Amino acid sequence: MPLQTDRVSGAIGVGLIGTGFMGKCHALAFGAAKAVFGDIPTPRLELLCDVPADKARAMADQFGFARSTADWRELVADPGVDVVSITTPNKFHHQMALGAIAAGKHVYCEKPMGLNLEQAGEMAEAAETAGVKTLVGYNYLKNPAVLHAKRLIADGRIGRVVHFRGIVDEDYMADPDLPWSWRCTRAEAGLGVLGDLGCHLVSIALDLVGPIAELSAETQTLYAERPKPEGSGTGPVENEDIATALVRFEGGVLGTLSTSRAAWGRKARLAWEVHGERGQITFDYERMNELQLFEANAPASDHGFKTILTGPAHPPYGRFVPAAGHGLGFNDLKVIEVAHLLRGLAGDEPLYPDFAHALKIERVIHAMAEAGETGRWVSVAQRQS
Ligand SMILES: NC(=O)c1ccc[n+]([C@@H]2O[C@H](COP(=O)([O-])OP(=O)(O)OC[C@H]3O[C@@H](n4cnc5c(N)ncnc54)[C@H](O)[C@@H]3O)[C@@H](O)[C@H]2O)c1
Repeated sequence: MPLQTDRVSGAIGVGLIGTGFMGKCHALAFGAAKAVFGDIPTPRLELLCDVPADKARAMADQFGFARSTADWRELVADPGVDVVSITTPNKFHHQMALGAIAAGKHVYCEKPMGLNLEQAGEMAEAAETAGVKTLVGYNYLKNPAVLHAKRLIADGRIGRVVHFRGIVDEDYMADPDLPWSWRCTRAEAGLGVLGDLGCHLVSIALDLVGPIAELSAETQTLYAERPKPEGSGTGPVENEDIATALVRFEGGVLGTLSTSRAAWGRKARLAWEVHGERGQITFDYERMNELQLFEANAPASDHGFKTILTGPAHPPYGRFVPAAGHGLGFNDLKVIEVAHLLRGLAGDEPLYPDFAHALKIERVIHAMAEAGETGRWVSVAQRQS
């Protein structure tokens, strides 16, 4: 579908739904992308939606959007909106994305796509049928350190990849006394830690190593009940706190993926190792501007991991800061993602990960959940949406 842009300015009209953690992050990125990158289409902050209406109005004013509404259906139908940013809780993604696609709008959606694999499959199919462009917010893929790791692997610097290990841990549900919330329910959150954090790790594993063919997994809910916030008894926790999988990539590489939302002390530990025949690359998002590289081809006397601090030699870092080692942050990854989105919408590059690719990520996390429940190996490749 051809992009509808403002006839006068040529700018891309943005409709943003949600103004929480991710809503602000998207707004900051749309506001900064042109200043950082220059050579990208200009976004026009057209319409913002949140509930109730006075909150939407206040946030539109704060974020610099021209207009506001409390009705997301009005937003997706608005002729001034070319692309719809969906940053609402998981339970809304499916209906909002399908509504936007039906109105012929491009969609930029936060992860996970849906509450379950069926929803994600419907979203991917609808986008393909309508011919609209889509992007899912797997921002960690846009880190210059990760992009450099990908280049090192492609250039053969660690030889053939033979093994992958990944962890993604946080501690936002480590406290057994943390009150019950919608996050604990299948109906509102879908999966637990797999949908929140595990999918980010899978996005990295697929990016660096390739598709996963099959896996076995164990999942665990640490606290079956949590105290109700209003102090009246407890509510059931219906989804997993911890998941660990043994995976076999297509091509035979073995790997492990492990995730917990109850790992005290871990704040953003998206950590992984790629083992090669001639070296190894390791990374931990808590030190997001650093990559560790070991090359077996160096003289034995010099063996050891070296720390690569990202800088202008690792595009697009230099668009932000001309000095190496000064560091990018979380919101900068969204600026890179939004610049990619705007270029993609203008037809300058294919969007990645779009709904079709993100569906592959969701197949893996749902395969992990299924393997955890059944105790069996699950073929990811054969899972249909
Ligand atoms: N990519 C990442 O790194 C990342 C990080 C955090 C969260 N997320 C994802 O982003 C999504 C949102 O998470 P969050 O932490 O920003 O949540 P949040 O609770 O901070 O924000 C949600 C926003 O949606 C609004 N909202 C709720 N119902 C609405 C409705 N009917 N119409 C319009 N607005 C409505 C809320 O008022 C709020 O502003 C989740 O799907 C989450 O998985 C992604």
